[in-house]
This record gives sequence, structure tokens and C-alpha cells, in this order.
Amino acid sequence: MMRAQNIFIVGPMGAGKSTVGRQLSESLSYTFKDSDQEIQRRTGVDIPTIFEFEGEEGFRNRERQVIEELVSEERIVLATGGGAILNPENRQNLSSRGVVIYLHCSPEQQYARTARDRNRPLLDTEDPLAKLREIMEEREPLYRQVADMVVSTEKRGTSSVVKEICRRLA
Ligand code: S3P
Repeated sequence: MMRAQNIFIVGPMGAGKSTVGRQLSESLSYTFKDSDQEIQRRTGVDIPTIFEFEGEEGFRNRERQVIEELVSEERIVLATGGGAILNPENRQNLSSRGVVIYLHCSPEQQYARTARDRNRPLLDTEDPLAKLREIMEEREPLYRQVADMVVSTEKRGTSSVVKEICRRLA
């Protein structure tokens, strides 16, 4: 696969998008961006606060706007939020402006990586594991639809994942 202008990382919460994305950007000397961080930077509040005041719809609007702007940059690695692929405009923007990498892992692994994290409003429920399973069922086809490359992060360290991506991009 040819060296891309941009690399977009998609996948569920807890797949390692931000951690892998940051390290990948360093390996490639690309700029790292994270759509959630960008939304927090622009609004000055955290993601749960946006959900609280504007609902998921308000958050999705902000997410769409941020992604639309970021895809036209060059040499960035962009970690998107787990639900970004729900929006057809986002899917179109991502697949037309760079190589899309789907980081894949089981709901059990996602749960293990997100259990102590209070920054994910969708998991603020009685049974977060059940929620993660439900979300994956809904989104898996969409992740696969936009992906140019699917990489497992199940029980693997960041460096091993980044190495695999670099090898497959070369
Ligand atoms: C979401 C995932 C989160 C964040 C928001 C909604 C989702 O991003 O965008 O809480 O719908 O899966 P991460 O995937 O980075 O946790």
C-alpha cells in the first residue's frame, strides 16, 4: 500500500485509536490529531459535558464539523471517535481523503481498557460490557465498509500494532 497523505483511524472505544495513532504519527513524522480532543479544545469542556448539554446529536454535529475540516489537512494521523463512522458524510470524507485503518478488538478487551474511564458517556450505564457488545454489532459492518486495512489490537502492545501498520503501509 502506498504511503498515504493522511491516515484515519476508526474503531470502537478502547481499541487503542489514540495510543496507536499517536505512536504511528511519530514513526511516520506525521501530525497527530484526535477528533474528541479537538472538540474538547474548541468547546473548552469535556465530552460528557457536551452530551449533557447538547445530547448525542449536538456532539455528532460537532464531530462531523471537526472531521470535515481535519480531512483536508496533509500528513496527519487522525484518531476518530468510535461513533464517527455512523454518519455517511464522515464515511465519505474519511475514505476519500486518506487511508482508513480499522483497529479491531473484542468487546471484552474494550471493556478491560475502558472500565476505569469516566470520560465515555455512552458507557455510563449499568452494564457497560453489554453496551459495548450492542454497539459493536451495530457498527462492525460500517467499520469494515470504510476500512482499507483491518488490524487487531487484541492482547497486543502498541509497538507491535504500530510496526504491523508501518509494514503494511510500506
Ligand atoms: C463514542 C466514542 C468516544 C467519543 C464519544 C462517543 C462512541 O470516542 O467520541 O464518547 O460513540 O463510540 P473514543 O472511541 O475515542 O472513546
